[in-house]
Amino acid sequence: MSYKFTWFGHATLGIETGGYHLLVDPFFEGNPVAKVGPDEVDADFILVTHGHGDHLGDTEKIVVRTGALVISNAEIIHWLKQRGIEGHAQHLGGGHRHPFGYLKMTYALHGSPLPDGSYGGNPGGFLLTTNAGEKIYCAGDTGLFGDMRLIGDEGIDLAVIPIGDNYTMGPEDALRAVKLLRPRHVVPTHYNTWPLIRQDAKAWAERVHRETDTLVHDIQPGESLSFPLGEASER
Ligand code: NI
Ligand code: MN
Repeated sequence: MSYKFTWFGHATLGIETGGYHLLVDPFFEGNPVAKVGPDEVDADFILVTHGHGDHLGDTEKIVVRTGALVISNAEIIHWLKQRGIEGHAQHLGGGHRHPFGYLKMTYALHGSPLPDGSYGGNPGGFLLTTNAGEKIYCAGDTGLFGDMRLIGDEGIDLAVIPIGDNYTMGPEDALRAVKLLRPRHVVPTHYNTWPLIRQDAKAWAERVHRETDTLVHDIQPGESLSFPLGEASER
């Protein structure tokens, strides 16, 4: 089996697995690096890590168009329900078998207020085990935490982690995160959206390649990767 991963820029991700289209933190409108708009993306499920505007993003708009089911923490799902948007509530440490695979919410060191100031619960990340058994970890906005080692113990194929600094881990801590997570592949996100989180992903990739066995894919917004990668794409 295989899956396709797309980085839409910032923390907005697309995952295609088993015929299902998953969107993670769909921030298109107002995202200065996004190459497509919220009306151009497919979605069967929308996974929201926390309530910040650059993550909740265009969730409501995309649900109205596609009928996608939102998956997030209970507070965010409750808030969306009051606005007429259906969702599936989970919480930190809890997993559920969805049609596309087993999805567990993970811990994240961050905040989660909703756009109108409502309480958005705890911020999180997602650990997806596809129906074919591939494990994809989307860390969400987070600082470094030691329990990434426990997440790594599950055997991660692809980790998607922030490197932008200021709001999340910066390059130094993201390198330490890779050492704890020990993923086969890593994609850096949450950088170069705005000047405040500008980073040199090439330099970061070189360091990761020097110090770990993980393959870094510093792709550009709008680019996709199909896993498993062909031999030619391997380092
Ligand atoms: Ni945030
Ligand atoms: Mn963010």
